[in-house]
Amino acid sequence: MLGLSMRDLRVSFRDLEKPALAVPALDIRPGEKVAVTGPSGSGKTTFINIVTGLERTRHGSVRWSDTELSSLSEARRDRWRSAHVGLVMQEFYLCPGLSALENVLLPGRLSRVRPVAELKAEGLRLLERVEISRPGQPVETMSRGQMQRVAVARALVTRPAIVVADEPTASLDADAGIAVANLLLQLAGEAGTTLIVASHEKRLIERLDRMIRLEAGQVTRDTGALQEMAERDEAF
Ligand SMILES: Nc1ncnc2c1ncn2[C@@H]1O[C@H](COP(=O)(O)OP(=O)(O)O)[C@@H](O)[C@H]1O
Ligand SMILES: [Mg+2]
Repeated sequence: MLGLSMRDLRVSFRDLEKPALAVPALDIRPGEKVAVTGPSGSGKTTFINIVTGLERTRHGSVRWSDTELSSLSEARRDRWRSAHVGLVMQEFYLCPGLSALENVLLPGRLSRVRPVAELKAEGLRLLERVEISRPGQPVETMSRGQMQRVAVARALVTRPAIVVADEPTASLDADAGIAVANLLLQLAGEAGTTLIVASHEKRLIERLDRMIRLEAGQVTRDTGALQEMAERDEAF
């Protein structure tokens, strides 16, 4: 399992006066389930992009166990991500024209981290878990809720150590959103993965171990940090 250590992070965009994200120090334990919340524009997606290596870290350190993402080239970050991260995005990014199963298998096939037969068995198992009864159905004929459940299965098929979701329920209606959130938490829980979910869905946030709140690119609340402080106080 992998844990995150972030130090002196600062992400600035050209047209912005203040950094989009500034984090002096933040640690996430292996297997921890973390919600990243905050208003629109507070830096949630920037945080997700930095911890997954989608965005390059130019200032500060972002380390997952032994891997310092800021020192890796884009190609190496891509390779690291395929091997260790399952991603669920707000807009599912499924490939139209391909079936649910083909979509689920795609990232695993590209990264070749598992043998094809094993991958396919796992893909079918996961589709069953997310209640997609026709693995051969073309994704463009599915409801948005079904599409996001396919995306959840796809994120987990390589058994990644880290699962990251950016507003996975934001484009779904309430019922479909709850179904997706339940499955994400259940499957990530069973697999023991480190889970980071950006969301302002209260019912989803409440069910995670820890909440990190961002406002204007700064961490203004971190229930995990409070817990650590309490544990430290108890030790004295
Ligand atoms: N590529 C970019 N170029 C310039 N500004 C950006 C870029 N991406 C994000 N921002 C800005 O950074 C801030 C944080 O954005 P974002 O991380 O997307 O917030 P959230 O996901 O919480 O809505 C916003 O002010 C946004 O406009
Ligand atoms: Mg966002």
